[in-house]
Amino acid sequence: MEYQKNSKYFAQVAGSLEPIAALELQELGAADIQTTYRGISFSADEATLYRILYQTRICSRILAPLISFQCHSEKYLHKSAMQIDWTQFLDLKEKFAINSNVSNSKISNSMYAGQVLKDAICDVFREKFDARPDFDAKEADVRFNLHISENWANISIDLGGEPLHKRGYRKETVKAPLQETLAAAIIRLTLWNGEQMLYDPFCGSGTILTEAIMHYCRIPAGFLRKEWGIFRMPGFNKELWDKLKAAADNNIRDLPEGLLAGSDIAGVCVHASIGNCNTFSQGRNVVIKRLDYREIDELENMVIATNPPFGKRLYEGEAEKILKELGDFLKQKCQGSRAYVLVGSKELAFALRLRYKMNKLLKNGDIESRLLRIDLY
Ligand SMILES: C[S@@+](CC[C@H](N)C(=O)[O-])C[C@H]1O[C@@H](n2cnc3c(N)ncnc32)[C@H](O)[C@@H]1O
Repeated sequence: MEYQKNSKYFAQVAGSLEPIAALELQELGAADIQTTYRGISFSADEATLYRILYQTRICSRILAPLISFQCHSEKYLHKSAMQIDWTQFLDLKEKFAINSNVSNSKISNSMYAGQVLKDAICDVFREKFDARPDFDAKEADVRFNLHISENWANISIDLGGEPLHKRGYRKETVKAPLQETLAAAIIRLTLWNGEQMLYDPFCGSGTILTEAIMHYCRIPAGFLRKEWGIFRMPGFNKELWDKLKAAADNNIRDLPEGLLAGSDIAGVCVHASIGNCNTFSQGRNVVIKRLDYREIDELENMVIATNPPFGKRLYEGEAEKILKELGDFLKQKCQGSRAYVLVGSKELAFALRLRYKMNKLLKNGDIESRLLRIDLY
């Protein structure tokens, strides 16, 4: 298999997070880092790979490439996939799933391409056992990945299993939560290190606050996860995994009181925020209140990190007004603070009517959102 020959792996990331993910991978020890659209290829020895899997906050999936080839037809895809001994990755009794993605290629239908790969996997099993494993997109034990771009196919195995943004703390959700990986990227971009309080006045379900707890307390992103795709890989070294996990877990620290706080106008959001933060024992030191931000006396000398309504799924037609008022609030009541505001578009950035030091595109699904840094004097 390709990854066994060259120790090269591929990290999938949300669009616009590539440079932040590349930096994180470098910090975790990856080498030969090459950034592409929504992904990063890197090489890593076994220990580094385990560390990346357990700790990355920004990457969505880590893939181990099995085979890559020029691919102009479904027939050739099937034939090439039949060359892999799938029985080394999957048991007859296990369920599998395939994430497929196709662009600018003769094979143009992602779903159908996934179906062809599924058939090839089942055919390999039938030839050997006269039986095939079940396919289950939702509750799969093993996940494979098919990517075809410019007629070049890559088939990989997903070493995380479930996508890595699923940290395990989101018990309750609200209408427009931020994805965990995006909230983690925001926390990184604030450069918040715990010297000042961090406050989120539109905290929703508390994704920014919970990621801030994990960041400050050095809680590995995979801390709550029990299952990993890599556990089923041939040659998986459990002893090494346990040792590296224990080393990362030993680094976890407490959260001092008064370092993290937030509020939201909606009771249901406050409830969700408290529940999510309290998944971690450190969450008890986060103060979360039900409050219209306009009633807050002041947010001075702190880091403000927040995601007011974009006006898409929530507060339709009101986003501009909300941002105008937020601009006034920041100017009048937040002296000495550094505010990081995620807005849903360039136009909404203007509505704040404040000078910003940073205006960074951070895609939120298909929304071209921007993180603004505003220094308040
Ligand atoms: C886009 S959501 C925040 C989502 C959050 N980042 C998360 O991950 O769940 C915006 C939030 O602003 C809140 N909100 C709207 N107007 C507000 C106001 N005047 N004061 C405080 N919160 C407000 C809404 O209740 C909503 O939860």
